[in-house]
Amino acid sequence: MSKDRWAAVDRYIGESLVRQGPALEAALKDSAAAGLPPINVSPAQGKFLHILARSLGARRILEVGTLGGYSTIWLASALPRGGRLISLELEKRHAEIAAKNLARAGLADSVEIRVGKAIESLPKLLAEKEGPFDLVFLDADKKGNPDYFKWALKLSREGTVIIVDNVVRDGAVIDASSKDESIRGVRKLNRVISSEDRVIATTLQTVGVKGYDGFTIALVSKE
Ligand code: SAH
Ligand code: DHB
Ligand code: MG
Repeated sequence: MSKDRWAAVDRYIGESLVRQGPALEAALKDSAAAGLPPINVSPAQGKFLHILARSLGARRILEVGTLGGYSTIWLASALPRGGRLISLELEKRHAEIAAKNLARAGLADSVEIRVGKAIESLPKLLAEKEGPFDLVFLDADKKGNPDYFKWALKLSREGTVIIVDNVVRDGAVIDASSKDESIRGVRKLNRVISSEDRVIATTLQTVGVKGYDGFTIALVSKE
C-alpha cells in the first residue's frame, strides 16, 4: 500500500464527504503562495476537528501552532455565536497570513492570534484567567509538546479534550533510542500523559495525503 493510494483515497474523501468551502481553499492557496510549508492538517483531519468541536459544544478553543490558519478555520467555524478561539504562533509572518485567511472566512471576530513562543504565551493565558478551554489542539514544534500539554492541563476543566498532532511519524515513535527531537517529544509526552491520573488517552494512527502519522486524543476526566 503506497502513499499515492493513501493520497488518492484522501482526495476521494475530500470530494465525496469533506467538500471544504472557498475560504478553506483560498487559505491553502494563499499560504502556498506565501511560501508557507504545506504541513497543515488534511481536509479530512480538519473536518474531524470541526466535528469534534461541534459535538463537544466547544465555546472556547485553544490552538498551539497557527501556520496559515487552515486548522484554525476548521475549528473556529465550529464555534457557536460568542465562542472564541485563541491560537498561538511563533512566526509573525505566519500569523499575518493566518489573520487574512481568517478574515476572509468571516472569523476575524472570534479568533485571536498571539505571536510568540508558545511556552511564554501559555503561562500568560493562565495569568489572564483565559480558559478553561473546552478543546485544545497542539500542533506547533513537537519537542515542546510535553510542556504544552502540562500547560493545556492547567487551562482545562473536567471534560476538556486535548488533541496532539503528529505523534506517530512513520512509526518512528517506537524507537526508544531516537535522537530526533520530535520523536523524543512524543515519547516524553506519552510518559507525561501516562503519569497523569487526571487524563485518559489513546493514539490513532492515520494514513493519507500527509503520509503515515497519527494523533493523540486525551480527555481530562478529573479535576
Ligand atoms: N495547525 C496548523 C499547522 C501548524 S504548523 C494547521 O494544521 O493548519 C506548526 C506551526 O507552529 C508553524 O507555523 C510554526 O511557526 C509554529 N511554531 C513552531 N514553534 C513554535 C513555538 N515555539 N511556539 C509557537 N508556535 C510555534
Ligand atoms: C510537520 C509539522 C506538522 O504539524 C505536521 O502536521 C506535519 C509535519 C513538520 O514540522 O514537518
Ligand atoms: Mg501537524
